[in-house]
Amino acid sequence: MANGRIPDDQGIPGLGATPSILHGMERVFSGVQSSGAPHIGNYFGAFRQWVADQHKADSVFCVVDLHALTIEHDPTQVGTRALETASWLFASGLDPEICIVFAQSHVQEHTALSWLLECTATFGELRRMTQFKEKSKGNESVSVGLFTYPVLMAADILLYDTNKVPVGDDQRQHLELARDIAIRFNGRYGDTFVVPEAAVPKVAARVMDLQHPERKMSKSVTSPLGTIDLIDEPDTIVQKIRKAVTDTDGEVRYDPEKKPGLSNLIEIFAAASQRSIEDVTASYDRYGPLKADLAEILVEVLTPVRERHAEMQADPGEVPRLLAKGALKARAIASTTYLRASRVVGLLAQ
Ligand code: AMP
Ligand code: TRP
Repeated sequence: MANGRIPDDQGIPGLGATPSILHGMERVFSGVQSSGAPHIGNYFGAFRQWVADQHKADSVFCVVDLHALTIEHDPTQVGTRALETASWLFASGLDPEICIVFAQSHVQEHTALSWLLECTATFGELRRMTQFKEKSKGNESVSVGLFTYPVLMAADILLYDTNKVPVGDDQRQHLELARDIAIRFNGRYGDTFVVPEAAVPKVAARVMDLQHPERKMSKSVTSPLGTIDLIDEPDTIVQKIRKAVTDTDGEVRYDPEKKPGLSNLIEIFAAASQRSIEDVTASYDRYGPLKADLAEILVEVLTPVRERHAEMQADPGEVPRLLAKGALKARAIASTTYLRASRVVGLLAQ
């Protein structure tokens, strides 16, 4: 059943089909860590796709607060960061009436399935994960959670019979692993999981740091001038774009290898204006005007998001309420899949 549907009934009495199967609709699932303030890389690489997907597919989005524990964290901030991240998702346009938004830690099947998948994944394949290598480099005490991070991510995805996973370019390898685990599990125990596919945007799949365009814009690396956060005020955005590193040859050309700084700006421009890279490049012959217009368009796109986020702060109870409702809906799907998986591996029924 590679990449197909799970049959409505696995031959396991009492286990019905999940809602996406009943609707015959594609299921989209994705997640975001609550490890810091979201930035324009998150927005153009992921959130904006999610907002479009919710109208086309049966969509589920998760604030992965358990994943955020894999790196250093302040326990007094863990909860508020999860709420903050969720609030940015709603501000970006996710509508809790038409999609599911929830916190990973509210649905215990994520860690339960993760264990079954840890017994399917191999040490060797986890050791090859580049994100693990990067995050653990130079770090004396690396948690086991950081190592098994991609297995929990596979559990997130597989629990929802996911067809499509809209993510930025940095998650491709994790998605490949999730597919490999699903295929191996299905081969070993019989068809249990839908095999998911990554959906990576054509433009802005890897937004780079404005000051260090050789590395991606990231929540976990402190680079105040290199990162445009969704919370940034218009003046700050203008200043950061003005100070963005380019090069000295003065030619407006898209060439990520030789001109990484300028190419990154062109790519952000294309994403924000929904124009092609060629079109943006052809419209400018100097860096100054390109930067000025880019700043203007970013302010235009991000201001409504920032304003919605500010409005949501007026009622501090709203986001927790929305997440609680989301968790109820998510649990209904996840518990069915988990039960199916636990039965096929041979665990006793409860
Ligand atoms: P994270 O903040 O790592 O949880 O990422 C949430 C989503 O944003 C994932 O789909 C990432 O692939 C995407 N993302 C993170 N950073 C970037 C970036 N610099 N450019 C494009 N997409 C990104
Ligand atoms: N690892 C992803 C990131 O850092 C976050 C994530 C966790 C995720 N679980 C997921 C993304 C499931 C997509 C699907 O961006």
